[in-house]
Amino acid sequence: MVLNTRKKTASKPVHVQITPQRQDFGFADVPRYWFDNDPVLSHFLNALSLTFPDGERMFVDSVREFRDTVTDKARQQEISGFIGQEAMHSLEHDSFNRMLATQGYKEEAEGGQALAQKFIAIGRKRLSKLQQLAATAGLEHITAILAHRLLSDPALLEKIDPSVRDLWAWHAIEETEHKGVAYDLYQDVSGDYATRVRIFLSASFALASYTTTYTAAFLKHDKMHRRPLKVAKGLWKLFGINGLLLPVIPEYLQYLRPDFHPWQHDNSALINEWRQILDQPAAA
Ligand SMILES: [Fe+2]
Ligand SMILES: [Fe+2]
Repeated sequence: MVLNTRKKTASKPVHVQITPQRQDFGFADVPRYWFDNDPVLSHFLNALSLTFPDGERMFVDSVREFRDTVTDKARQQEISGFIGQEAMHSLEHDSFNRMLATQGYKEEAEGGQALAQKFIAIGRKRLSKLQQLAATAGLEHITAILAHRLLSDPALLEKIDPSVRDLWAWHAIEETEHKGVAYDLYQDVSGDYATRVRIFLSASFALASYTTTYTAAFLKHDKMHRRPLKVAKGLWKLFGINGLLLPVIPEYLQYLRPDFHPWQHDNSALINEWRQILDQPAAA
């Protein structure tokens, strides 16, 4: 294997630690519309959650495949931290997804996870190990920019019901901490720009199709097709100006730059800020 010797354009700030933390969120008394009392926002993140357990296991495997190419001790520790954090996220989102089933969304939760598993199995079969690592690096960019969106706008997290707020804040913090790990590894072992971008765009399309399908399935379960105004309001909160997704588009596009690196955007101050808030019980 030929290692990429090009110079990195940024790197993780040294004070950012990638340390897995076992959580055991209970998810008691979660309202159906736990995000801003809005069905579209809540179900969009529910649909995303259905992809996490198997998706993050795939991330871990794709990184594990190449970890022996890294000889630097600090980088090895980062990779171990990444693997540990993603494993913990899988567990907690498994539990979150089981909670959705108890809310009455059994068919959507189980069917959605089965479809995510199927997609991922196809990816594992059809993509080379390097392409799988490129998919992980690309999808990690998406989770990192969504995490930044949540952490950088306290009003958004305020709108998340306290019964699930810690899950989303904790996950967003850790996605920020380890946002460069898969990317750095991909750059080390190949750095091929065309593959990185092609796989990123394909993975984005697959994720967007999946979340659209399952957001719609949850909404249909709630018979929201009979309440078009409520849905339109939710769609505006998702895609409109100052909505959840529109402000992340410029950051999304940054990934297309040949000299891109996740830590060109140093948002590590948010990590400290939110870790302190989470460490204070019931203060988040
Ligand atoms: Fe994660
Ligand atoms: Fe991640």
